Amino acid sequence: MERTFAIIKPDAVERRLAGRILARIDEAGFTVRAMRLQHLTKREAEGFYAVHRERPFFGELTTFMSSGPCVLLALEAPDAIRKWRETMGATDPKKADPGTLRRDFGESIGRNATHGSDAPETATFELGYFFRGMEMI
Ligand code: RTP
Ligand code: MG
Repeated sequence: MERTFAIIKPDAVERRLAGRILARIDEAGFTVRAMRLQHLTKREAEGFYAVHRERPFFGELTTFMSSGPCVLLALEAPDAIRKWRETMGATDPKKADPGTLRRDFGESIGRNATHGSDAPETATFELGYFFRGMEMI
């Protein structure tokens, strides 16, 4: 079993898509180990996306991620990190495969509905950034 960190981003929460995305998470076979609704501050978003701080879209990304509440999740499944990335689809919804979350619910590369850890080290960092051990059942 493996755990990954996921976010239902502010664009999807604002458009009332969180329930549908959670249903897709259940249907795909993930077990939810922790879940919390949280409106990130700009500083919290900057710390979370610190690996991207030199990228040209960093300001836009962290302003967007702190623009409204999002749903923070710890997801468990065999091969969860790769499986969740596949369930989300490509970063740009226009390039995401049919049936993926970003294809179905994303509006643009910035407003792309969901986040997922991209490697075991990032999953460990991201789960620990938002959840204490006691909160992950
Ligand atoms: P995420 O971290 O949110 O799961 O997305 P990702 O791995 O698929 O993509 P990543 O390269 O980590 O980029 C993080 C987020 O930054 C926004 N982005 N904007 N304007 C642009 O060219 C651009 N490139 C990336 C996206 O919202 C992406 O999810
Ligand atoms: Mg990423």
